[in-house]
Amino acid sequence: MKERMLITGGNPLEGEVRVSGGKNTAVAVIPATLLSDEPCTIENLPDIEDVRALVDILRSLGARVTYVPGEFMTVDPRPAAGTGISYRDSQRLRASYYLLGALLGRCGHGEVFFPGGCEIGSRPIDQHLKGFAALGAETETQGGRITARTDSLQGGDVFFDVVTVGGTINVMLAAAKAHGTTIIYNAAKEPHIVDLANFLNSMGAKVKGAGTDVIRIRGQQYLHGATYAVIPDQIETGTLMIAAAATRGDVVIHGCIPTHMEALTAKLLEMGVKVTDSDDAIRVRTLGGHRAVNIKTQVYPGFPTDLQQPMSALLTTARGSSIVQETIFEQRLKHLDEIARMGANVRIAGRMAIIEGVPQLYGAPVTCTDLRAGAALVVAGLMAKGVTEIYNPEYIDRGYEQIELKLRSLGADIRREAIE
Ligand code: EPZ
Repeated sequence: MKERMLITGGNPLEGEVRVSGGKNTAVAVIPATLLSDEPCTIENLPDIEDVRALVDILRSLGARVTYVPGEFMTVDPRPAAGTGISYRDSQRLRASYYLLGALLGRCGHGEVFFPGGCEIGSRPIDQHLKGFAALGAETETQGGRITARTDSLQGGDVFFDVVTVGGTINVMLAAAKAHGTTIIYNAAKEPHIVDLANFLNSMGAKVKGAGTDVIRIRGQQYLHGATYAVIPDQIETGTLMIAAAATRGDVVIHGCIPTHMEALTAKLLEMGVKVTDSDDAIRVRTLGGHRAVNIKTQVYPGFPTDLQQPMSALLTTARGSSIVQETIFEQRLKHLDEIARMGANVRIAGRMAIIEGVPQLYGAPVTCTDLRAGAALVVAGLMAKGVTEIYNPEYIDRGYEQIELKLRSLGADIRREAIE
C-alpha cells in the first residue's frame, strides 16, 4: 500500500529519545552468523526493513532463525545448505552481497545477484572481487549474478585501491575461516567494522586491528556460538542531533556512543549549536541563528557521507553561504533539488553544492529518492512553515526504526497516511 508522510513543521523538538541499534552493523553481523558452527543470538537489532530482509535470506538458505523484533534474533546455521540467494532477495538491500563473503567463508561457494540499495552512484564491487581472489576464490559476474567459489580458501594480502566499507566487511567475512592469515591494507575504519570484528572474535575468530587501516585475520576452522549486542546507530544518532538543531529544540539522545559522533558534533558547534555529551548520551540545544559551515564528506573518522544529506537540509536555513562537497559518492545531492521546492537556495555542480541560507523553508510535496535523502526531507519538513508531504517514505523505513514515533515523542507533528 502506497503511503505518504505528512509533517507540519515549526515545533521545536524537546525531550529525551533512545537511539536504536545500528543498521550498517546489523547487516554485516547477521550474515556473519553463517560462519558459526553453533547457534548465535544477536541483540539490540533495529527492527527495520533491511533486517527483516536478512531474516528471509538466511531462512532461504536453510538456517533456522528466530526473530523477536526489539528483543533478539537467534540463528542456527547448522541446517543451512544453500549457497545462493534469489534475484528478488538480492535486490531488497545493498548488504545482500555480504552473503558472498559469509558463504565463501562457510562453504567455499557463494552466489548472489547484484545488490539493491540506494542509487547514490555507480557503486562498483571490483574491490570485493579483488579481495576474494586474493583468498584464492574464482569469481565470475554473469547474467547479473556474482559467483565466488574455491576448493580451499587461503589467507592472503589485500590492498584496497579505495577505502571501502563493504569490501572490508566482505573480506573479513571470507577470511574468518580461511586457512592462514589475511591482511587487509587500506581498510575502512567505520564503527561497524570494529563491531563486526568484535562479533567475530566473540565466536572465537582472530581479528586484530579493526578500526585502523590494517586488519589482520588469522583464519579459524571452528567458530563457536555467541550472544552479541550490536552498537547503536551512528547515523540515526546524527540524524536526531541534526533534527534537534533544525527545529531550534533541546533533545537528549540516549544509548548512543558520543565518540562516534565527533565529526558532526564539531560541525554543529561551529554553527553555534550547543552540544554536550556524557558516556552514552548527547544533548543538543539551540536557539537558532545558525552560522553557515562547509562540509566535506570523508571516510571515518571524517564527516560521514550518510549524514551529508540531513546536514545539508539544516544548512538551507543557516546564516550565510555553505559549501557541501560529497567526495564518496557521485550522485548524493539529489535531495537538494527536492528541498529547493520548499524555498531553499541551492546551486549544484557535480559533487558540490553551494547553499545560500534563507530565513524560512515552506512546506511542499517532495519525493524521497533514497534512504538518507528521505531523512533530509524529514529534517526540512520539521523546520518548514506549513505542511510537507513526503512521497515514497518507505525508503526511510529501510534505515530508521519507527522514526515517526521517535519524532512525535519529541513534539513533532508527523504522521503517515495511505494514498490511492
Ligand atoms: C556502506 O556502503 C554503507 N552501506 C553506506 O550507507 C555508506 O554510505 C558507505 O558504506 C560509506 O560509509 C552499508 O553499510 C550497507 P563503500 P558501501 O564500499 O559499502 C567505491 C546508508 O545510507 N567502491 O565504502 O557500498 C564506491 O563506489 C548507506 O546507510 C569501489 O570503487 O560503500 C564509493 O565511491 C548508503 N569499488 C566508495 O568506494 C568497490 O568495490 C565507498 O564505498 C567498492 C566501493
